[in-house]
Amino acid sequence: MAVDAVTALGEDEIDSLLEAAIILLPALVANPTPVLVKGRRPIDFGLNFIDGRRILGDGKTWEGLITGTLAGGVLGAAAWYLLGVNLPLTLAFIIALGALLGDAAASFLKRRLGLRRGAPAPLLDQLDFYVGALAASHLSGYPWSTHTALAAAGLILLLHFTANVAAYLLGLKKEPW
Ligand code: CTP
Ligand code: MG
Repeated sequence: MAVDAVTALGEDEIDSLLEAAIILLPALVANPTPVLVKGRRPIDFGLNFIDGRRILGDGKTWEGLITGTLAGGVLGAAAWYLLGVNLPLTLAFIIALGALLGDAAASFLKRRLGLRRGAPAPLLDQLDFYVGALAASHLSGYPWSTHTALAAAGLILLLHFTANVAAYLLGLKKEPW
């Protein structure tokens, strides 16, 4: 039963897309929050790495990291409470933070590859927050089954693809990707 699965979430491996979607709620709130905040203080303090390029770049700010972690933690925990899910409040903040650290790790990799801020990196740009949230879940003692982790990654890519194609067809974007 879906309801039993939801209340028992976290007692066993995360092994359904429903459980995955619920435990990812803090990450799904945290990831888009920084875009709305328009921070000004770069996490890397404007410093370069040993290769002479920025460590993370101006697209990763303290304001984004902090507001995203708080928004994801608070709204994610509230959603869990309303759904009757028995997961600790602190986990919501850890998953939100994990998502944003995953996003920052992707920027670190992009800079090392010589990609400028905002340059597209297919798959990395879409899945960075998810990999961070997944790692945070595992490290906090909430492991996922391999097939669920892969299915969730596939679903996230599919949602990105359909949202972008829809935005293109509606004339909101110049390219369908
Ligand atoms: N953002 C932020 N702080 C963060 C993450 C994101 O302020 N920790 C904001 C920035 O304004 C950023 C925007 O959200 O430009 C979109 O995020 P993202 O697409 O991840 O950054 P990019 O600008 O594309 O830079 P990068 O190439 O490093 O991914
Ligand atoms: Mg980007």
